[in-house]
Amino acid sequence: MKIAIIGAGVCGVISLKYAKESGHECDVFEQTGELGGIWVYSDEYGMDKNGMPSYRNMYKGLVTNAPKEVMTFLDFQYRTDVKDSYITQKQTLEYIHDFVKKFDLERHIQYYTRVKRVEPNDDQWTVTVVDDKTKTERQARYDAVFVCNGQYFMPHMPEIEGQNLFRGLQMHSRDYRSTELYENKQVLIIGGSSSAVDISQKIAAVAKNVYISHWSTILLKVVDVTVKPSVKQLYNKGAVFSDGTKEDFDIIIYCTGYKRFYPFLTKECGITVEDNWVRYLYKHIINIENPTLCFIGVPTFIPTFIISDLQARFALAALDGKFSLPSKEEMLKEITENVTELRSKNVPQRHFHKIFLGFRKYTTDLCKVSGIRPFPEVITNLYEHLLTTIGTLQTTTKYVLVDDEKFIEIK
Ligand SMILES: Cc1cc2nc3c(=O)[nH]c(=O)nc-3n(C[C@H](O)[C@H](O)[C@H](O)COP(=O)(O)OP(=O)(O)OC[C@H]3O[C@@H](n4cnc5c(N)ncnc54)[C@H](O)[C@@H]3O)c2cc1C
Ligand SMILES: *[C@@H]1O[C@H](CO)[C@@H](O)[C@H](O)[C@H]1NC(C)=O
Repeated sequence: MKIAIIGAGVCGVISLKYAKESGHECDVFEQTGELGGIWVYSDEYGMDKNGMPSYRNMYKGLVTNAPKEVMTFLDFQYRTDVKDSYITQKQTLEYIHDFVKKFDLERHIQYYTRVKRVEPNDDQWTVTVVDDKTKTERQARYDAVFVCNGQYFMPHMPEIEGQNLFRGLQMHSRDYRSTELYENKQVLIIGGSSSAVDISQKIAAVAKNVYISHWSTILLKVVDVTVKPSVKQLYNKGAVFSDGTKEDFDIIIYCTGYKRFYPFLTKECGITVEDNWVRYLYKHIINIENPTLCFIGVPTFIPTFIISDLQARFALAALDGKFSLPSKEEMLKEITENVTELRSKNVPQRHFHKIFLGFRKYTTDLCKVSGIRPFPEVITNLYEHLLTTIGTLQTTTKYVLVDDEKFIEIK
């Protein structure tokens, strides 16, 4: 088969590795000049050096929010000199590069090549790409398409009354790079997730004052920061909060997340995204309308590396006929049952791909249905342990995997 893979991040390279091993001919299209996706750090934001919108969102000093022991591909170790569990952006990127080198994957990647359109064509797919250097377009047909374009590119910006009146700088966390801009400034951070906490702690050291406004019930540990409830409205100089208090600001950073988006899929592909829920994907992977269109890396709150490894093998096992997918009606039925359950628990639609506590169940299910090899259970055991430590995470803690089931924690 001929397979097109969109994006050369973690999900793209793992898909390429297994697709190649299954004997398929693969083209990976990557719009930037580098592989690694979000793990590539760049000072640029706004526009890149080719005058294209920059998709970079990595910032200086980022340390992983999960230990490397769960951030692994199957059977592929980190370099032995990487001793810590919580590692840097650079070490993570190195791991991805080592992987690509070992399996000789890079020659399949076409850089500065953006996928513009994907449309079904008989039993195949016509993929149109743009060479961003020469601005020329070309087309080719493929038997299957793997969508690996990531989910942290399109900022989600909430609408707040008076937003257009505020005269200071408003930005999304995607464009945060380093602390210089915030020296001696009054900064408001909107959001209560890991990026809000992480960025607030970095800025607190240099800013005049940092405020975090959030509405979530759990907030991770923050120091040197004033916590506020949600913003009621903005005015020219600052914000009014829902408790009636008011504060002036120079800069507002929205740590309000991202939207999944697939601008290159035509309507005929049969995919719609509604409030961040991608419909309809069987097991969060296979497009039920056209099962040769597969999505890798859609779930969140889950260790991406090992999940994408499993998802790629699941999708290929289906394509290679190693197991047969149920009929469209049966796939839809299972999705509907899941959704009914989620709704009964009041889970908002935008969290339908949040797997979180369902990690063990989801991964076991993928292996059972397709017959693919599971990864060592110790990864699941460690991940479940990590969930119990949320809020008290210490990036100096180390984990050692003792065997396929047991790990030890060194504080
Ligand atoms: C700030 C931040 C910190 C994170 N920290 C962690 C962490 O500590 N641990 C962890 O496990 N996960 C973390 N994540 C999650 C992270 O997203 C995953 O680990 C993983 O890197 C996602 O890989 P991906 O391949 O799905 O997407 P990406 O890395 O986003 O790669 C997608 C690639 O597709 C390309 N692309 C997009 N559209 C097109 C197109 N139309 N044509 C061609 N190419 C295209 C992009 O240029 C990009 O290279 C973090 C995410 C962010 C944003
Ligand atoms: C339904 O939910 C289960 C449990 O979370 C999961 O393993 C399975 O993949 C889901 N099925 C579909 C079709 O998404």
